[in-house]
Amino acid sequence: MSIRLGDSAPDFASESSEGKINFYEFLGSSWGILFSHPADFTPVCTTELGTVAKLKLEFDKRNVKVIALSVDPVESHLKWIDDINETQDTKVNYPIIADPAFEVSKLYGFVHPNASDKFTVRSVVIIDPAKKVKLLITYPASTGRNFDEILRVIDSLQLTAEYSVATPANWKHGEDVVVIPSIKTEDIPAKFPKGFKEIKSYLRTTPQPNI
Ligand code: BEZ
Repeated sequence: MSIRLGDSAPDFASESSEGKINFYEFLGSSWGILFSHPADFTPVCTTELGTVAKLKLEFDKRNVKVIALSVDPVESHLKWIDDINETQDTKVNYPIIADPAFEVSKLYGFVHPNASDKFTVRSVVIIDPAKKVKLLITYPASTGRNFDEILRVIDSLQLTAEYSVATPANWKHGEDVVVIPSIKTEDIPAKFPKGFKEIKSYLRTTPQPNI
């Protein structure tokens, strides 16, 4: 089964490096990010997990719970975490789901048989507090993810969930945003008191409203 944007994120119970996890209980009322890995003791994954550990405060600031998945058992995860801590100069500070039977991986569509029948792909699923899937990205095993981009996307998702705006190409927190097309130009001043620019009738920008 695969999931699509707007779907309810499937709930599951699983073993993890931090004990048994019920996914929805783990998420609580926070945003969530679930990211999959091809396997334990692989070089790119080792750097990714270390990078996420170093960014944990950034995820916490945004009220995002982080959880990784790799299709090896808990005992393997625990030994791998020692290696990650040592080689990446950090401490893994979030759970890694153990999915040796590929149960969660299949539930979330992390197995792409035409890419690999042995490994899960590198997917990122971002889930909002209503447990809806807001973002899906998939990378091949050979390409490590850019977690600064994931933080940037979370900033956009959280902003656009609250305001009638969208974020333009390469937008970063603090930069101007675009007013969504369904807002009439004459209604913009009341909604966006910081002002706006009308570049075209369909392209109106305004300062980021929540800063
Ligand atoms: C890695 O994480 O380094 C990796 C995993 C599977 C295939 C290639 C690289």
